[in-house]
Amino acid sequence: MVITIAHSKGGVGKSLLAWHLAIALGVPIIDLDFQRTLVYTNNLREANGRKKLKIIQPETPEDFIKFMDDWPEGKNIIIDVGGFDSNLNRAAIYISDVIITPAVDRVTEMAGLYKFHQIIEELSQKMKTDIKAKILLNDVSPSAKDFTVMEELVKSLSHFELMKSIVAHRADFYKSMEEGAGITELGDSKAKDEIKKLIKEIKVKG
Ligand SMILES: Nc1ncnc2c1ncn2[C@@H]1O[C@H](COP(=O)(O)OP(=O)(O)OP(=O)(O)O)[C@@H](O)[C@H]1O
Ligand SMILES: [Mg+2]
Repeated sequence: MVITIAHSKGGVGKSLLAWHLAIALGVPIIDLDFQRTLVYTNNLREANGRKKLKIIQPETPEDFIKFMDDWPEGKNIIIDVGGFDSNLNRAAIYISDVIITPAVDRVTEMAGLYKFHQIIEELSQKMKTDIKAKILLNDVSPSAKDFTVMEELVKSLSHFELMKSIVAHRADFYKSMEEGAGITELGDSKAKDEIKKLIKEIKVKG
């Protein structure tokens, strides 16, 4: 299963989620983010005595397509897309089995989601297919309960569906990355439970 974490907006938690999911599932990451956030985290991982995660970094859309053509069908992989629009990012969205779009539950974030929806609409028309992205509320306040604004927005956009899983703002997520660990490698925490629930919802086996 090819799981792509994508949003054309930056700083919504794509790389953070890609990292924790890849470690939880024990699968490689394709890093399409030119900031190379996860390569840095992976170096910290090695420095802390853990086995490095496999990170693949294709330079061009052609390299990427070639890699994916050779990737065995049914084998799991995570793609971390950069927070911008590009042909490479669109190719990743098109070839993936599951698209997860982290979104922050703030009115100011809505414009970004519209923009991403427009990109998916264009891509769907061009490729003559109906691409769906799963919107994952991420980095929300741990005490937040009312998500009606986001629920209404997602309902009104045909290429989106809202995930049941929610990932809250939790320091454990970035603290574990500071030592190159995945949250599921550490002791019990709410953050760990959220990643496990997310994996269950995507129905992917590690
Ligand atoms: N659930 C969360 N809890 C705590 N911090 C979070 C959470 N999600 C994201 N963050 C923090 O928000 C910042 C942005 O996250 P991240 O780098 O993963 O975003 P991104 O979407 O990959 O950005 P870009 O598009 O620039 O690649 C980071 O500092 C990250 O630690
Ligand atoms: Mg990123």
